Amino acid sequence: MTYLPGLLDTEAIRKDFPLLDRTVHDGKKIVYLDSAATSQKPRQVLDALNEYYERHNANVHRGVYTIAEEATALYEGARDKVAAFINAPSRDEVIFTKNASESLNLVANMLGWADEPYRVDHETEIVTTEMEHHSNIVPWQLLSQRTGAKLKWFGITDDGRLDLSNIDEIITEKTKIVSFTLVSNIMGTHNPVERIVRRAQEVGALVCVDASQAAPHMVLDVQALQADFVAFTGHKMVGPTGIGVLWGRQELLEDLPPFLGGGEMIETVSMHSSTYAPAPHKFEAGTPPIAQAVGLGAAVDYLSSIGMENIHRHEQAITAYAVKRLLEVPDLRIIGPATAEDRGATISFTLGDIHPHDVGQVLDEQGIAVRVGHHCARPVCLRYGIPATTRASFYLYSTPAEVDALVDGLEHVRNFFA
Ligand code: ALA
Repeated sequence: MTYLPGLLDTEAIRKDFPLLDRTVHDGKKIVYLDSAATSQKPRQVLDALNEYYERHNANVHRGVYTIAEEATALYEGARDKVAAFINAPSRDEVIFTKNASESLNLVANMLGWADEPYRVDHETEIVTTEMEHHSNIVPWQLLSQRTGAKLKWFGITDDGRLDLSNIDEIITEKTKIVSFTLVSNIMGTHNPVERIVRRAQEVGALVCVDASQAAPHMVLDVQALQADFVAFTGHKMVGPTGIGVLWGRQELLEDLPPFLGGGEMIETVSMHSSTYAPAPHKFEAGTPPIAQAVGLGAAVDYLSSIGMENIHRHEQAITAYAVKRLLEVPDLRIIGPATAEDRGATISFTLGDIHPHDVGQVLDEQGIAVRVGHHCARPVCLRYGIPATTRASFYLYSTPAEVDALVDGLEHVRNFFA
């Protein structure tokens, strides 16, 4: 067994994740290397979901009977847990959404319908990057098309970093919002938040950070980030699907208009007009994802019990090992940083001229689950002149033996297509 300093006790951790015991293709043990797409779920989260439905299921903020009050307490308790997890100054700054895409669309729509000083119009500019997931590109394209605002972006360097050499030309006095990812979902790059935030603050622009690939893997402190909005999703951080988070600064959430209208987001309604509940409820129209929020609360408890610093250290060790081993594979080209520094545990690569879909299929036959394609970050593939990549992504339950299995699997792929 390969020993690497900083590793977690994966033998114990893996016992919490029933799916990791699965076999596929006639008894091959699954090697799950697609946690950037969605993480596996520990029994503690599955139990919390079950217990919620078996004992407390009722709608929230409405009933006066016992289980309705229990459901409300569990739902709002999950908000407290998430607020503590991200060091939010106030629980009221935590909005539950369906996923990170919805969180980012919510920000774009808040600004799209806002009055001055937040209004985005044809005289203003929106800034994003070429490294984004589509969910942090398309909402800004839609906003730009609707308002006439100009959409600008930072490019990417040959080694998979953001090219900030022209930062003063990209972020200008006209910039209303700068929205970028903390960690790339396709290349694993960690981006230099501080530098971007400093420039945005100089020109009075708002900053929105997509932390979908950061929140599961490292300490996420929204106060230290100094952003105005931070979006992430539950299912990548051992929580259920169907629950996302938008954190926003309180005064912004007070000033900005809601996007979705409906039940529970109002104060009063007449046939002529309505007034709205304070944040976060103003942004949570309709019956919210109650069980999913409770599951996210359990996920946050689980991750906290292991410690985000420990998880980060584990992933750094696995990533360094994976980069080293992958670079030993002939014809393999890492797309993105080919080092272990300033990067997360997500590694994209190409293998000679073998199409990534073929790589993925032959790996699957060996029980190895990776994602192939453009990973909802097609501009990155266009930037490097490739149609797609194979992506391996690691998490707190990943082991050096799984890295070895991937490398052996790739050898098999090469032989298969030789
Ligand atoms: N956003 C997820 C990924 O990058 C689905 O795979």
